[in-house]
Amino acid sequence: MDVTIYAAVAGNGVIGREGGLPWRLSSDLKRFKATTMGNPIVMGRKTWESFPKKPLPGRLNIVVSRDAAYRAEGAEVVTSLKDALTLATAKGRCMAAAEEICIVGGGEIYRQAIGIADRLKLTHVLADIDGDTLFPNVDPEIWALVSAEDLPAGEKDSHATRYTVYERRGGSGRQV
Ligand SMILES: NC(=O)c1ccc[n+]([C@@H]2O[C@H](COP(=O)([O-])OP(=O)(O)OC[C@H]3O[C@@H](n4cnc5c(N)ncnc54)[C@H](OP(=O)(O)O)[C@@H]3O)[C@@H](O)[C@H]2O)c1
Repeated sequence: MDVTIYAAVAGNGVIGREGGLPWRLSSDLKRFKATTMGNPIVMGRKTWESFPKKPLPGRLNIVVSRDAAYRAEGAEVVTSLKDALTLATAKGRCMAAAEEICIVGGGEIYRQAIGIADRLKLTHVLADIDGDTLFPNVDPEIWALVSAEDLPAGEKDSHATRYTVYERRGGSGRQV
C-alpha cells in the first residue's frame, strides 16, 4: 500500500503548539476524517496523547513509542516506524476499505516518514502562526505538486486554506 502523509501546515512551517493544534479548522478536520476513513493511521505517541483518550473511529490506529510497555487503549502500539508500516500493511490487507497507510503526525514522525512516503496531502494554512512543532522542508526537486484547491475560511475555521497533493517524483522512496 502507498504511504501518504497528512498534515496541516502554516506558511512558516508550524504544525503544533504546546501539544495541540494552533488553529481551528473544522472543514479540514471533516475532510481529514473522510479521506482517512477505513485506512490504517500511524502517529507518534505525543499526537496520540493530544486526542481525547480514544482512537479515531473507523480507522486502525497505530501509535509509535520507544517505550515497549506503553499502552494506548483502542490502538496498536509499536516501537518503530518500520514496525508501524509492517503492521499497517499486514492488517490493511484484511481491511476492505483500506487504500493507503496514512501518516498523521506529529513533527517527529513526519521528519522520519517524509523520506519514505509516496504522497503528501497537505493543507496549507494561509498564515504564519506561532508554534513549537514544524513540518519538514518539502523539496520541490523531490515532490511534484499535482493538485491544489483554495478554500476560504468557513464559519468554524480560523483561517483560509489551500488543500494540496504532492507526489514523489520518480516513484516510491520506501526502503523500510
Ligand atoms: N498540523 C498537523 O497536521 C498535526 C498533525 C499531528 C500532530 N500535530 C501536532 O504535532 C505535535 C506533536 O508532534 P511531536 O513532534 O511533538 O510528537 P509526535 O511525532 O506526535 O510523537 C513523538 C513521539 O513518538 C515516538 N517516536 C518518534 N519516533 C519514533 C521512532 N522512530 N521509534 C519509536 N518511537 C518513536 C516517541 O514516543 P515516546 O516518547 O513514547 O518514546 C516520541 O516522543 C502536537 O502539537 C500536535 O498537535 C499537528
